Amino acid sequence: MGEHVGVVGAGYVGLTSAACFAHLGHRVTCVDIDESKVDNLARAEVPISEPGLPELVAEGLADGTLAFTADDTALAECGIVLLCLPTPPDHEGKPDLGVLEDVVPRLGRLLAPGAVVATKSTVPVGTAARLPDLLRRTDLSVVSNPEFLREGHCVDDFLRPGRVVVGTDPPGSEAARRIERLYDPTRAPVVRADTASAELAKYASNAFLAVKLSYVNVLAELCERFGADVGEVARTMGLDSRIGPEFLAPGPGWGGSCLPKDTTALLHAAGSAGVDFGILRDAVRVNARQRARAVRTVREAVTGSPWGALSGARIGVLGLAFKAGTGDLRDSPALAIATELARRGAEVTAHDPAVGPGPGLDALQVVDDPYLVAKDAAALVVLTEWPEFRDLDWARLAAATARPVVVDTRNLLDSGQLAEAGFTHLPVGRRHPDAAPFG
Ligand code: UGA
Repeated sequence: MGEHVGVVGAGYVGLTSAACFAHLGHRVTCVDIDESKVDNLARAEVPISEPGLPELVAEGLADGTLAFTADDTALAECGIVLLCLPTPPDHEGKPDLGVLEDVVPRLGRLLAPGAVVATKSTVPVGTAARLPDLLRRTDLSVVSNPEFLREGHCVDDFLRPGRVVVGTDPPGSEAARRIERLYDPTRAPVVRADTASAELAKYASNAFLAVKLSYVNVLAELCERFGADVGEVARTMGLDSRIGPEFLAPGPGWGGSCLPKDTTALLHAAGSAGVDFGILRDAVRVNARQRARAVRTVREAVTGSPWGALSGARIGVLGLAFKAGTGDLRDSPALAIATELARRGAEVTAHDPAVGPGPGLDALQVVDDPYLVAKDAAALVVLTEWPEFRDLDWARLAAATARPVVVDTRNLLDSGQLAEAGFTHLPVGRRHPDAAPFG
């Protein structure tokens, strides 16, 4: 048995870290203030949809390596404590550290001598350097150990990380080595850094992904004008190992609980430091434009004009989550676009394999049968790239619509197959009817 690890917070990051560290052979106690969540987790009822997570939680509970409690005094037994706490944006877009500032002083009173406190969820640069003051203890060590998990792939990303970043001041201290050893079984490359670099590396990675996506989304727009195909352009770019093939798929804009929050936070921090991060500001601006662009495409598909009125038009939406593989609606471009269509007077019926009727969806009619979205629809709109949408019976969908047109904001579907089914397919980043020759 390795270290006894305490995890504070049982959200995506905390729960995945707790279950995976137990799986890697450590003893883990996961603490959360939400007693009903703790009770459910203690019965192996996992509140989030992450492939492999329920199995790992059940395994840890069964062999006694994983425990959940609402009693934080249990952390007094732990040699390492990982902070997996929320830092939601405040009204200016800056991360709100209120929860962390409440929890850390309490840890200072609870923890055993020599314990290591590591920040795991994303925190602003400079947070680790502030922790010793908040802890009010000189015998505790502080580490920045940011996570890079993708929703829907959390377990896999945790057990097979591309890199593990361990920040201490100075880098490579004994506390850093204790955190590193937790990950030994993963054999991941380790970056030993100072805490500010480790913290910034997390923001820098998410912001870079956002810039890459906004870049390709603008390229898609350009392809439509030039009569080029963004799929071929992106494939060519992706085969250059300096660019890489991932995050080059155009879409209705990037969203979720991380990229929007982290880009805004980094922009804010850069501004406060007197650095103009114009390229990132543009990426955020382009992203807001993507949603409006998708709405115009739908208006054009339905009325013949990007400015046409949608009142009374029936529109069928496929996908509401911010990406496939999750039911997460936080900052979802798909939900924002569907809601905007409804606000403009359309009657929107939507289906997402992972989303049922619920809060925030009042403007839409959410159905669990994908074929219902097509009924009398003037257009279908694909907003989330669920692979199962490809396997729908598109001839059946076409027969149910009033006009068989599909706006495919993810380039998910095959134009040939759609044409056979009787659909007009409107993908993004391919020849636009008004395409002008280059120059
Ligand atoms: C993101 C990062 O990818 C993780 O590395 C990071 O740990 C995580 O944020 C976090 O900070 O916790 P996630 O929010 O799960 O992960 O979502 P991504 O898979 O990165 O997707 C972000 C957005 O980009 C989605 O809206 C997705 O649809 C969009 N996207 C992604 C595209 O439009 N095209 C692509 O080719 C890829």
